[in-house]
Amino acid sequence: MKECVLVTGGAGYIGTHTTVELIEAGYDVVVVDNLSNSELAAVEGVRKITGAEIPFEQADCTDKEAMSRIFDRYKFNSIIHFAASKAVGESVQKPLLYYRNNLDSLLTILELMRDKGVRNIVFSSSCTVYGQPKVLPVTEQTPRQPATSPYGNTKQICEDIIRDTVSAHNEMYGIALRYFNPIGAHPSALIGELPKGVPGNLVPFITQTAAGIRECLSIFGDDYDTPDGSAVRDYIDVVDLARAHVVAVGRMIQGKSRSNYEFFNVGTGQGRSVLELVAAFEKATGVKVPHKIVGRRAGDIEKIWADTSFANQELGWKATRSIEDTLASAWAWEKHLRNIK
Ligand code: UFG
Repeated sequence: MKECVLVTGGAGYIGTHTTVELIEAGYDVVVVDNLSNSELAAVEGVRKITGAEIPFEQADCTDKEAMSRIFDRYKFNSIIHFAASKAVGESVQKPLLYYRNNLDSLLTILELMRDKGVRNIVFSSSCTVYGQPKVLPVTEQTPRQPATSPYGNTKQICEDIIRDTVSAHNEMYGIALRYFNPIGAHPSALIGELPKGVPGNLVPFITQTAAGIRECLSIFGDDYDTPDGSAVRDYIDVVDLARAHVVAVGRMIQGKSRSNYEFFNVGTGQGRSVLELVAAFEKATGVKVPHKIVGRRAGDIEKIWADTSFANQELGWKATRSIEDTLASAWAWEKHLRNIK
């Protein structure tokens, strides 16, 4: 019998890509999403790519009764928990929304796991837990720093809640994946990122500018202590990132975890500046992106990239897609959305 995985937030950007990779790896998947920041059409895209049925349940993970019914309706032993609010800036304006959504949904899921005997959870964490590290690249031994936003704080608290829960309930296992900057889209261009309103993140802003929807990309700062002065990040292809979840689930199911709670950096190991990324996009697509330098964005860190050797060795996982292919896929998705030939 196939193993089944419950994917919360499975209609979202990383959730849809992960669902595709899970199905292609031979898992059954049940998707839960409250559609507060996603579209049902995204699940249709996943069905089209995979040809699989994929049960979809519209529910909020903070709704314990609804979630309990879902736990009873389907037989799964593993959960990948994406469902969360994720905008750093908004979290500063609406901290209670972030604490309520992100903590309550995790607590609800963990209580149901404990009560109904579901063993494994993969959690969407973020490199934001490292703050601005003193030494680069960051390894999993790099100490976490106090969070600079309520969003970041929820990631730290959620990691701790999982660690404490799986240590107290020895039959349970958890893996937190600390994502660096996920970008790109599925090579089919049938799923991708769907930002609402003006994109806050760099790559959707680049593709919308290339499509003529935005006039000009603002580069936030050229006076950082980096080779070209713009900020440096580790941009990880979303399909590579999705595959890391498949490996993490398999590790727990196959009993390969070294302890009940583990955490891994999921990046490429390579830092790139904002200006380098824009140049790589232009090279990959042949489309110019009008841009101008403006002041730094409040709250941004200067530079961060991952040491991925632990994830590479322990998980046997490695990012494989080139930055050009990734950026070309982001552009193909934007063109698909806007009907651009
Ligand atoms: N940037 C621009 N112009 C834009 C948008 C972004 O220059 O229009 C720059 C930012 O200043 C930053 C880089 O591009 O230097 C990347 O910015 P993103 O907003 O795409 O990503 P962040 O690194 O700020 O944030 C991401 C995730 C967060 C996560 C954080 C952890 O979106 O969820 O990484 O560092 F918390």
